[in-house]
Amino acid sequence: MSDTIHSVLIEDRLFPPPAAFQAKARLKDLAEYERMYRRSIDDPEGFWGEQAKALIPWMKPFDKVLEWKEPFAKWFLGGQTNASVVCVDQHANSWRKNKAAIIWEGEPGEVRTLTYGQLQQEVMKLANVLSSMGLQKGDRVAIYMPMVPEAAIAMLACARLGAPHNVIFGGFSSEAVRDRVNDAGCKMIITADGGYRRGQVVALKPAVDEALAKNGCPTVEHVLVVKRAGNPVQFQAGRDHWWHEAMQKAPAKHVAEPMDAEHPLFLLYTSGSTGKPKGILHTTGGYLVGTTITSRYVFDLQDDDVYFCTADVGWITGHSYIVYGPLSNGATILMYEGAPNYPDFGRFWDLVEKHRVSIFYTAPTAIRAFIRAGDHFPARADLSSLRLLGSVGEPINPEAWMWYHRVIGGERCPVVDTWWQTETGAIMISPLPGVTATVPGSATVPFFGVDPEVVKQDGTPCGPNEGGLLILKRPWPSMLRGIWGDDQRYKDTYWGKLAHRYFAGDSSKRDSRGYLWIMGRVDDVLNVSGHRLGTAEVESALVQHPWVAEAAVVGRPDEIKGQAVVAFVTLKANAKPDHDVRDTLRDHVAKVIGAIAKPDDVRLADALPKTRSGKIMRRLLKEIAAGGVPKGDTSTLEDLSVLAKLKDED
Ligand code: WTA
Repeated sequence: MSDTIHSVLIEDRLFPPPAAFQAKARLKDLAEYERMYRRSIDDPEGFWGEQAKALIPWMKPFDKVLEWKEPFAKWFLGGQTNASVVCVDQHANSWRKNKAAIIWEGEPGEVRTLTYGQLQQEVMKLANVLSSMGLQKGDRVAIYMPMVPEAAIAMLACARLGAPHNVIFGGFSSEAVRDRVNDAGCKMIITADGGYRRGQVVALKPAVDEALAKNGCPTVEHVLVVKRAGNPVQFQAGRDHWWHEAMQKAPAKHVAEPMDAEHPLFLLYTSGSTGKPKGILHTTGGYLVGTTITSRYVFDLQDDDVYFCTADVGWITGHSYIVYGPLSNGATILMYEGAPNYPDFGRFWDLVEKHRVSIFYTAPTAIRAFIRAGDHFPARADLSSLRLLGSVGEPINPEAWMWYHRVIGGERCPVVDTWWQTETGAIMISPLPGVTATVPGSATVPFFGVDPEVVKQDGTPCGPNEGGLLILKRPWPSMLRGIWGDDQRYKDTYWGKLAHRYFAGDSSKRDSRGYLWIMGRVDDVLNVSGHRLGTAEVESALVQHPWVAEAAVVGRPDEIKGQAVVAFVTLKANAKPDHDVRDTLRDHVAKVIGAIAKPDDVRLADALPKTRSGKIMRRLLKEIAAGGVPKGDTSTLEDLSVLAKLKDED
C-alpha cells in the first residue's frame, strides 16, 4: 500500500517517558490523560467548551460549542476573538512584554530578537500600513517571503485586520504564485527582495513581477516589499512599496477588532490527487484552540523553553507550529532563515547550542540526511539544552527514530512523532511526552477529541496489524472548513469516500497495543522530503512542454527523501529535441511549479502502459520505477511490448 521507505530495523521496544522529563511535564499522570481523553470523546462539546475558554482570550464569549451539518462544522458560535490579540497583545500586555517572542537567525549569521512588546509594535504598525493601502476585512493577501520575522509579522497583521492570508512557499515558481493569487483573488502581495539559501541570494520580487506581468493577477493592487537581501529589484510606481518606508510613516497604535470565531483566518494551498492545488480554509476560533492546546500538550511548552521548528512558514507546520500555536502560548520561538546544511550539516546543532533550544521539531527527511552526513556534526555541539524532540511530515523509519533519540536526544528526550495534515490544522495523532510510552515508527495515540479508525475499503474496521484506510469519525475544532470556492470538491475528497467519515488519504494500521502506525498516502499524492506533491500537478506541468505527448508521474522509495519523483514521458512524433530531453524537462517542471517538484528521474517511453479502458497503470509504473519486477496481473495491458520497453529503459 505504501511506497515510502521500508524499514529493515524491527524495533518494538517501548520507551517510557524519561523520568526527569516526566517530573516537570505539564501532563505526567497517565490516569489523568486517560480521563481527559475519555471525556473528550464521551462529552466533546463539554470538553472543548472548557478548553476553549481556558486556552484563549475571547473578546466575546461563545454561546454554542459546535454546529455540525455534515460535512460543514462551525465551532464556538457567537464567540469573537482576534488571532493577533491571542498571539501577541495577550502577552505584550502582560509580564511577557519583555520576553523574547521571536529569536531569528539569518543564514549569514546575524541575529535579531523581538520581544512580545516589540512584536506587538510591528504588528500594529503593519496593520495600519495595510489599512492605509485600502485593505479591508475579508480581503485576501498573498505572502511570499523568505524565513524572516516579517513573514510572521505579516501573517499576524493580516489576522488582526481579518484579511485572510495566503502564504505561498518561497520556493514556488512565478506560475505557481500566479495560480494561487488568482484562485484566492488576493488584493495584495507581501514579499521581499530575496532571501538567503545555501550562501546564495534567492530573489523573490522578480517572481512576483513575472506573476503580475501582462495583468497576470488582475486583483492585485499593491505589493509590499521587505528589503532583506539587498539584491536589485524593479519597482512599479503606485503598485510597489518598500516595507521599511511604509512602516516609518505608520502610526504605532492599532486597536484590534473582534472577529467571529468562524471568520476565515487563512487559506493555504496544498496538493491533492487531482487537478490544481486546493485552497484549504481555516477559521479563527477553532484553529486557535486546536493549535494552542496541541502546542501545550504535545510540545509541553513552558515559559522557559526555546522552541525551534525547522519548517518554513509556507507550509502548514510553519503556520501552526512556528506562528500560531507557540505564540498563542507565549513561547519563545527560534526562527532560522536558511538551509540545514549551510555552511555545513552542523548548522541546526550549532543553532541549538547557541540559542539553548529546548524543543526541536523537524522532518524525518532532515534526520536521514543528518545520519548520512555523520555523527561528528552533532557531536561538535552542546545539545544538553534539548528536552523534547518532534517529527512531522512523513513516516519516521525506526532507524531514523533511534538515531534521533540517541544522538540528538542523548536518550533523555522523548520523541513525539506527530501525524496531521494541512486539512487537520493541528496535530491529531501523537504521543504526549509525559505520559505515552513510545515505539519507534509509531505515531501512537490520538490526541484529545480525535477518534480515528483503520478500515477496509468498504468501511468495516480492520483487525490488529491489518493495514487499511485511516479515517476520523467526528469533527474537531481546527478542521478545515472547506476548499476555497469549491464545496463540492471538499465533500467529495474528504467526506465522500466513506459515509460520515473524514478520509485522510493515508493508510495506517493499529498494532495489538492499540498504537497507530501511519504507512503513507493511498492516493496520487507524493510525499517528497516531507512535502506534498500531486502527481497530477507534475504531469500537467510536463505536458505543457511542446515536446511532450503524455506523462505519468509516480513515486519511488528514496532513502533520504522518503519518495523521489519519477516521470514516464512519451514525446510527440514531431518533437525535435535540441537539448538533453531529461534535463530540459526537469528544468521545465522546476520553472512551472518550483524546484521541489523537479523529477529525480525522467524516463522516456514509446507509449505508456494502459488498461483496456485507457487508464494509465500506475501500479505497474511504480514497480518499474522502484526497479522491481512487476507483479500481479498484467493481462489488461494494451501493449505488453510497452512494458518490456519500459523495463529496458536506462
Ligand atoms: C504525511 C504536514 C506519517 C501524511 C503536517 C499526511 C505523516 C501528509 C506524518 C500531510 C507522520 C504527516 N507520519 N506521515 N507523523 N505527518 N504525514 O498537509 O501522508 O503537508 O497525509 O501536512 O503528510 O501533509 P501536509
